[in-house]
Amino acid sequence: MATIRIHGGNPLYGDVNISGSKNATLPLLAASLLVKGHTVIENVPRIDDIHAMIAMLRALGAKCDFVQDTTLSIDATAISSVSAPYNLVRKMRGSFYVAGALLGRFGEAEVPLPGGCVIGSRPVDFHIQGFKALGAVVQERHGVMHARADKLTGDHIIMDSRYRSVGATVNIMLAAVLAEGVTVIENASREPEVTCCQHFLREAGADIRGVGTDIIVVRGVDELHDATFYSIPDRMEAGTFLAACGAARGELTVRSVIPSHLTAVLSTLQKAGLTVENGPDWVRIAATGRPRAFEVTTAPYPGFPTDLQPNASVLGAVAVGTSIVHETIFDARFNYVDELNRMGADIQLKDSVAIIRGVPRLSGAPVEATDIRAGSALVLAGLAADGYTEIAGAEFLDRGYDGFADKLRSIGVTITSSREAAHNGSRNVWLR
Ligand code: EPU
Repeated sequence: MATIRIHGGNPLYGDVNISGSKNATLPLLAASLLVKGHTVIENVPRIDDIHAMIAMLRALGAKCDFVQDTTLSIDATAISSVSAPYNLVRKMRGSFYVAGALLGRFGEAEVPLPGGCVIGSRPVDFHIQGFKALGAVVQERHGVMHARADKLTGDHIIMDSRYRSVGATVNIMLAAVLAEGVTVIENASREPEVTCCQHFLREAGADIRGVGTDIIVVRGVDELHDATFYSIPDRMEAGTFLAACGAARGELTVRSVIPSHLTAVLSTLQKAGLTVENGPDWVRIAATGRPRAFEVTTAPYPGFPTDLQPNASVLGAVAVGTSIVHETIFDARFNYVDELNRMGADIQLKDSVAIIRGVPRLSGAPVEATDIRAGSALVLAGLAADGYTEIAGAEFLDRGYDGFADKLRSIGVTITSSREAAHNGSRNVWLR
């Protein structure tokens, strides 16, 4: 298990350049399988989930290489398999996106069912209902989804309005772009990551209307063509750094961001009494004292993102007064709370609501991350705490945050990483 160690209690100062979005770029890589040709994706984050998706594309027969630091070239002309290997799907749920793309292009996909996850039950029933509506015969055998269709035909698909599933919207869209006729997806996700995929598909020749709305209309085309596309910045990474500054104090500017993607996040930070201003592609936050208590409820975009809910709890943990954080998307996304309480936080859970009585200071402790966003919350808590915090399960951070330790160092954080130490050949893992 990888571990990082943070020395907390110091304010953060400086600028952080935000990398490309994990959750926007994963669908782009899957979508490239629909192009019988060459795709270039720019602003690709160098994180483990992207490396796992690249391994998936290669396993299916695509050629896939970084031609520059963050520019990925994909040639999916010759795909040799429609079966996704279990060891890659197991690593990351986002790899289930290859199902829609393979079904759309080849009329066939065999993809292991991704199963449960520590943040809650994460079924793929909406994805499968969508594939069936387009005419696929879908069977689940021995934990694998087999989808087949002689021909996919557009249909009117009404998704569950309570969830507006990101993954199902993308997967159905991928299956529909080469189908015959018109597919309408109602109650679609409006997350920027979904909109990004729509823009990419249009760039490659797909006919998609209603971009960025909850009613998407896809008119099937015969084929897609070569495309070059720049992925969007990661709003979760930006939100993480902003919340970090809110919790640890200081003044921080996140750059290369799209502030309109962060509207709900910025308004929550302002409710917490933090000073926030923004320009066309940057957001600055200043925090001189403790935040004040706030209430926030997670919701599909444009609401407050569930992926930043754990970070909001850390802000509440050091705020003056009692904050309320309500989770509505995933049924088990408070698994970091016991760890925060071990660091001196006072958080009580009542079903899907966290009641957080702010304390003046957290205290560093050994803790363990169980998923990507729980990991980032523990980092934030470590930054706001006295003394050292040692976070086990730091490999989750490498799945989702590009160069996290280096970026934190650049704004004044003392942080050491067992992975970096091992990479540098140090026998003293902590380089104390
Ligand atoms: N749902 C179903 N059936 C389905 C699909 C979803 O019941 O077939 C439910 C889920 O159980 C959940 C809700 O619908 O309660 C929303 O799930 P959604 O499908 O929107 O989530 P996802 O596509 O599996 C993506 C992100 C998550 C992010 C959620 C919500 C990727 C690879 N993952 O997951 O990101 O939390 O949307 O915004 O894009 C992360 O990055 O750490 C992460 C977990």
